[in-house]
Amino acid sequence: MKRPDISRELLGRRFQNPLLLAAGTAGFGRELNGILELDRVGGLVTKAVSLQPRQGNVAPRVAEFRGGMLNSVGLANPGVEQVRNEFLPWLSHRLRRAQVLVNVVGFTVEEYGEVVRRLDGLPAITAFELNLSCPNTSAGGIEFGADVGCVQRIVSVCRDRTRLPLVAKLSPLLPDIGAVAVAARDAGADAITAVNTLPGLLFDHEGERRLGHGNGGISGPALLPLGILAVSRIVDRTGGMPVIGVGGVRSAADVRQYLRAGAALVAVGTAALADPHLPERIVHDLERDGV
Ligand SMILES: Cc1cc2nc3c(=O)[nH]c(=O)nc-3n(C[C@H](O)[C@H](O)[C@H](O)COP(=O)(O)O)c2cc1C
Repeated sequence: MKRPDISRELLGRRFQNPLLLAAGTAGFGRELNGILELDRVGGLVTKAVSLQPRQGNVAPRVAEFRGGMLNSVGLANPGVEQVRNEFLPWLSHRLRRAQVLVNVVGFTVEEYGEVVRRLDGLPAITAFELNLSCPNTSAGGIEFGADVGCVQRIVSVCRDRTRLPLVAKLSPLLPDIGAVAVAARDAGADAITAVNTLPGLLFDHEGERRLGHGNGGISGPALLPLGILAVSRIVDRTGGMPVIGVGGVRSAADVRQYLRAGAALVAVGTAALADPHLPERIVHDLERDGV
C-alpha cells in the first residue's frame, strides 16, 4: 500500500517524515539495529561526538521519576576518529531514506571546529547539530550556550570548517532563548534545536544522590510544554527560522503540538528509550492522519 506523503524539505534534504530520534538516545544507530527499523524515521541524531574518546560518568547514569528521567551520561562516546572510520560508514551503508545529523561537543571553542573539520564531507552526514550545553573548561565549567558570545564563536568557527548545514542546539535554561537563536543564526547557523535537558538533582530514601555524578539533566514528559514554548519563541523571534522541537514527546499528538508551535521537525528521546518501537508507531499515526 502506498504511504501518504508527509515528507518535508529541510537543510537541503528531504525528510520522509518529521520525526527524528533525539541525540544521545539512539546511540549511532547500530545499537538499535534489529530493534527499530531505522529507515522508517525522518532521521537520527547521533550521540555527541567529541575530539577524544570519553568514558563518561560513573554509574548510575539514569534515574527515573514521575515527570521523566534524570541522566548524567557524561557525553560517553568513542571519539571522532572511530566515529568517522566505523560508525558513520555503517550508517551510510545501512540507511537509504533516514537522514543523519551528527551531534558535536567540545570542551573549548576550537574543539567543536576540529570535530566538524574531521567529519566534514562524509556522505552519511546531512548536518551537524552543535550541542551547546557542554561545559566550557576555560570558563570554569559554565555552559557555552549560556553566553551569547560563545555561541556565536562556536557557530562561526564551525561555519568556517564545513559547508554542511549547522544546527545550534540550545538549553531551555536561557532567559531569552529567542535572542540566542538570533545570535546563532547571525553567526551562520541554518537551524535551531530546542531544547536540551534541564539541570536537576534527586536523592534516594537514604539521602544519597541517585546519580553517580550527582546532578544530571531532566528529560521526558516534564519538558513538553517548556520545549513547545521555546520553539514558539524562537520561531517568532527569528521570523520563521527552521526549528527542531525536542522534549517530552510520547505520541503523534505531542509531535503535532510542536508542529503547531512552528517546528519543522520533532525529535523523540526518553520515551523511545523505554519503548523502542514508539518511533515507528508515531510515524504510523502521523501517516495515517496525514500528520
Ligand atoms: C540518556 C540521554 C543522553 C543524551 N545525550 C545527548 C547528547 O549526547 N547530545 C545532546 O545534544 N543531547 C543529549 N540528550 C538530550 C536529548 O537529545 C533531548 O534533547 C532531551 O532528552 C529532551 O528530549 P526527551 O524529553 O524526548 O528525552 C540526551 C538525553 C538523554 C535522556
